[in-house]
Amino acid sequence: MGKPYLIRISSQKGGVGKTVVAVNFAAALEQIGKSVLLVDADFTNPSIGIDLGLEDIEAGSLEVIRGRTKISEAVVKDRRTGLIVLPGRLSARQVSLNDRDVHAFAENLRSTNFDFVIIDTAPGIISEEAVRSYDEAFILTTPDFPSCTSAMRLAKVYRKFGIRQRLVVNRVQNMSYELTIREIEEIYGNKVFCVLREDSIVPISVSERIAAYAMKKNSRFCKDIRQMALRFSGKEGGAEGGFISRIMGRFTR
Ligand SMILES: Nc1ncnc2c1ncn2[C@@H]1O[C@H](COP(=O)(O)OP(=O)(O)OP(=O)(O)O)[C@@H](O)[C@H]1O
Ligand SMILES: [Mg+2]
Repeated sequence: MGKPYLIRISSQKGGVGKTVVAVNFAAALEQIGKSVLLVDADFTNPSIGIDLGLEDIEAGSLEVIRGRTKISEAVVKDRRTGLIVLPGRLSARQVSLNDRDVHAFAENLRSTNFDFVIIDTAPGIISEEAVRSYDEAFILTTPDFPSCTSAMRLAKVYRKFGIRQRLVVNRVQNMSYELTIREIEEIYGNKVFCVLREDSIVPISVSERIAAYAMKKNSRFCKDIRQMALRFSGKEGGAEGGFISRIMGRFTR
C-alpha cells in the first residue's frame, strides 16, 4: 500500500466552511470505499470535535505534535460516519507552530495506513514554506468578492510552491448579488473544482453534532459533497462510474 495522500482544507478568510467540508468530504470518501483519517490541524480553535461531539479527549493533534502521544493513541472513531478522527483538544492558549513542527506532523501522518488524510486548518497559512508538507490543497471560498480575492492570495502561494490546488465554492445560492461561477473562474484563471450549495442541513447538523452526511444524505449539500468525492476519485457519473467509464475501467485497471 502506498503512502496516504495529504489534503489540506484551507481558506484565507475564516468561516467559509472548511470544517464542515473537511468532515463531510471525508465521510463521503469513506463511503465510496476509501480509507480516510480526518485531522484537526486548527490548533488554536479546533472544531471538528465540537461539530462531531468528540471533543471530550485527553490528547489530540497538538499533543501528537508535541510528542506527548502517538496518533494511534489519540484517534477516535466517529460512530455515525465510521470515520477515524484525530481531533484537537480545546485549550484557551494561542498555539504557535514553526515550519519544522508542521513538516514533522505531516510526515507522521504519512506514516499511517490510510488512503487519504483530510486536514482541517485555521484560516490563512502558518508560513509559505509549511505548505510544502502537503500533497494538495483545497481552497474554500464563498461566492463574494472579499472571500474570492482572499482565496486568490492563497492560490498564489500554492502556485509558487507547486502545490496542487482545487478551488471549491461553498454556500452558493444563485442570488443576483453573488459572483457567478464564471466570474470566479475568470478571477481564478482556472476551473472551479466543485460548487456546494447553501443548505440548512449544515447548521442543523452542526447543532445536532452529527455530520450532515450521516444525517441526511439526500440533502442538497450532501449530494454536492458526494459529487465532489466522486469527481475527486475519478468516479463521477455514479458510484461505479458511467457505462463508458465502467467498460474502459476493465481495460485500464
Ligand atoms: N453549505 C452551507 N450551507 C449552510 N451553512 C453552511 C454551509 N457551509 C458552512 N455553513 C455554516 O457556516 C459556518 C462556518 O462553517 P465552518 O465552521 O465549517 O467554517 P470554517 O471555515 O471552518 O471556519 P473557521 O475559519 O472559523 O475555522 C457554520 O456555522 C456552518 O453551519
Ligand atoms: Mg474551521
